[in-house]
Amino acid sequence: MRQDPTFRPTDPAFLANPYPTYARLRDEAPMLHFEPWDAFVVTRYRDVDRLLRDRRLGRVTDANPKRDRDPNHAPFDAIQAGSLLEIEPPDHTRIKQAVHDVFTPKHVRDLAVRIESLAGRQADTLARAIAEDGQADLLTVFAEPIPVTVIAELLGVPEADRPQLLPWSKSIIGMFEPERTAQDEANAVNAAAEFAEYVRHLMHVKRRDPQDDLITRMVTTHDREPGTLQESEIVANAILFLNAGHEAVVNVFGNGMKALLEHPDQHAKLKANLDLAGSAVEEMMRFDTPLQFFERFTHEDIAFEADDGQTVELPAGTKLALYYASANHDERVFEDPTAFKIDRSPNKHIAFGLGLHYCIGAPLARLELTRGLQALEETLPNLALTDAPYQYAPKNVFRYLTELPVTVSA
Ligand code: HEM
Repeated sequence: MRQDPTFRPTDPAFLANPYPTYARLRDEAPMLHFEPWDAFVVTRYRDVDRLLRDRRLGRVTDANPKRDRDPNHAPFDAIQAGSLLEIEPPDHTRIKQAVHDVFTPKHVRDLAVRIESLAGRQADTLARAIAEDGQADLLTVFAEPIPVTVIAELLGVPEADRPQLLPWSKSIIGMFEPERTAQDEANAVNAAAEFAEYVRHLMHVKRRDPQDDLITRMVTTHDREPGTLQESEIVANAILFLNAGHEAVVNVFGNGMKALLEHPDQHAKLKANLDLAGSAVEEMMRFDTPLQFFERFTHEDIAFEADDGQTVELPAGTKLALYYASANHDERVFEDPTAFKIDRSPNKHIAFGLGLHYCIGAPLARLELTRGLQALEETLPNLALTDAPYQYAPKNVFRYLTELPVTVSA
C-alpha cells in the first residue's frame, strides 16, 4: 500500500507511540488527505470537536459509492445495520429512547455496591496471583472480569456463556481497522454470525423466562409495542452493548495503569489521596486514549474552515478519520499535554466522543474504572511494572496492550 510520507499508520514505531506523529500532523497538516484510506486525517482538537457536532456529517452515507458492500460480509453488515453506533436520527433517537435509562448516571449509581465488590474480589485475586508467581497479567486477572461481569449481568448473559464474549468482541472490532487483512474480515464475519445466533437464542430464552435484564426488556418492548424495536435491532444493540461494555474499559485499565506506574510521583500522589481516583481515570483516558479515532462521512458538500485558517472542500460522501487521541494531546487546548497529571484540571478530553454518538456507557465506565483503581490501590499499594517489554496490539483504531505483567515492589 502506498504510504504518505508524513503518516505511516503501519510503521511499528508509530504503533508503539503514535503521539509524536500526531503532534507533527497537528502542526504541519492538521487535515491531511491520506490517499490509502481515501480519508481526511483530522488531528486538531477544535476541528475534531466542530466536526463531531456538525449534523451535516454522520456515521452513514449513501453518497459515497466507494463504501464497500461485500456480499460475504452480510452477517457483519446485519449486526451493524441497526446498531446505535452506525445509525442516524430518526432511527437513532427511537432506539436510544428504548434503552438509554439503563445507562443513566442515576441507574448506574445503583450498581456501585456490586462494582465495588467485584473490584475488591479481582484485586484480591491479582494479589494472590502475584504472591504465588511473583507477577501476573493485570488485564486478564484483574481488568477483564470487572466490566465483562457487569455488562453480562445488565444484559442477562448467563455466567457459563461469558468467556465467549471476549474472543467474539476482539474478532468483531477487527473490522473497524482500516489496515485489516482478509483473515481479519473473515474472523469478524464469523464472529458476527455466531454472536447474532447466540443473542437470538437468548431472546428466545428470555421470552419463555423473563428476567430483570436489558435483553428481556428489549424483547418485551418489541412484543408489546410493535414498531418500537425490530428483532434485528435488538440483536445488533445487544452485541454493541456487550462488546463496547468491556472492550475500552479493559484497555483504559491497561494503558492507564501502565502510565500511572511509569510515573511514580503521580502514583504516590494518588496513594496519598484516593479521592483523586476519579480525576486520575480521566487523565488515563486522555493520556493514552483507547479509541484513537472514529470515522464520519459528509452528508453534503461542505467548505470547512479549519483551525489553521485553511478552507477544506469536503464533497458529499467524504470520509474523515477524527482523531480523538490527537485532539486529547493538542497543545492549543491542553497545557503541557505530554505530561501525565492525575489532578489535571481542566481536562476536557474527548475519549468518549462528542455529539450524537457520545458514549452511552460513559457513567458506567467511569464508575468501573474509579472503583477498580481504588480497589487496586487499597489492596496492592506497591504495585509495579516488571522488566518485561510491553507490546501494543498493531491496530490503528483500538489502542491496547496485549498484556500488562505487574508485580509488587519491595
Ligand atoms: C472507558 C471506556 C469507554 C470508552 C473510552 C468509550 C468510548 C466511546 C466512544 C469514543 C464512542 C463514540 C464513537 C463515535 O464517536 O463514533 C462510544 C460510543 C458508544 N459506547 Fe462507549 N466507551 C467506553 C465504555 C462503554 C461502555 C461501558 C458501554 C456500555 C454499554 C459503552 C457503550 C457505547 C455505545 C452503545 C456507544 C454508541 C452510542 C451512540 O452511537 O449513540 N461504552 N464509546
